[in-house]
Amino acid sequence: MGGTMPPERLPLVAGNWKMNFDHLEATYFIQKLAWTLRDSHFDSHRCEISIMPSFTSLRSVQVLVEADHLPLSYGAQSVSVTTQGAFTGDVSADMLARLGCEYVIVGHSERRKYHPEDDANIVDQVRAVLAAGMHPILCVGESFEERRQGIALDFAVGQVTDVTRDLSDEQTSNILIAYEPVWAIGTGMVATPESAQEAAGAMRENIRSAFDDSVSAAVRILYGGSVTSRNAAQLIEQPDIDGFLVGGASLDVDEFASIARITEKFVRRLGRH
Ligand code: 13P
Repeated sequence: MGGTMPPERLPLVAGNWKMNFDHLEATYFIQKLAWTLRDSHFDSHRCEISIMPSFTSLRSVQVLVEADHLPLSYGAQSVSVTTQGAFTGDVSADMLARLGCEYVIVGHSERRKYHPEDDANIVDQVRAVLAAGMHPILCVGESFEERRQGIALDFAVGQVTDVTRDLSDEQTSNILIAYEPVWAIGTGMVATPESAQEAAGAMRENIRSAFDDSVSAAVRILYGGSVTSRNAAQLIEQPDIDGFLVGGASLDVDEFASIARITEKFVRRLGRH
């Protein structure tokens, strides 16, 4: 590490709500989540919690978080690659930044599947998010087919390389990666802690060889895909896994809060924060 201490990586438990909850349901959820965390003395300095609701809920979430000083961040699930103009239905990175968004999910497999989001478009989204002062959560992960062919690791690491190739050290250190094997999303088939660590470790090593050591030490790598309170503990114990991108389980306040508490407790036990 060249004698310098690596920056500490604050674990992040992020809820990707996908296309669920209108703004009233979002408001209710966030209030209940805040009460639940407060009642259990959750320490947000040891584990960050973030919610990615629909665009239509962002303003309500912002007002609530700001008015009640809630220890939560929030973000969006996708973004336009352009800054403004005749792009009907698109939302720009600046609009999201103005709403106080900290994060934007980029390249989720559902976006890659249902929308024309190829690698070039994903790189442009990452650049747009960074230029607006937010952090992209870059989603990568192999499908069942790549796994069957035995090329899962190369595929997922290659996706990270494809996106970060032309970025600067500073840009890359502001990215988060979510390793989300496509076969694990919404299926109940979670990756084993060993295979999730293998992928996260390979991604970090890849970043280390392409960028400065301090970049690879700074980048937070999340695991996503059928995360629940039953499997979170073994996953968060892995040295290169810095938190979770949670889908289905983030729609249940108690379950989501449990995952956050498991993450926070592990960090507390380790003294890692
Ligand atoms: P599930 O947690 O429902 O498997 O979804 C994961 C996901 O896609 C998060 O982005």
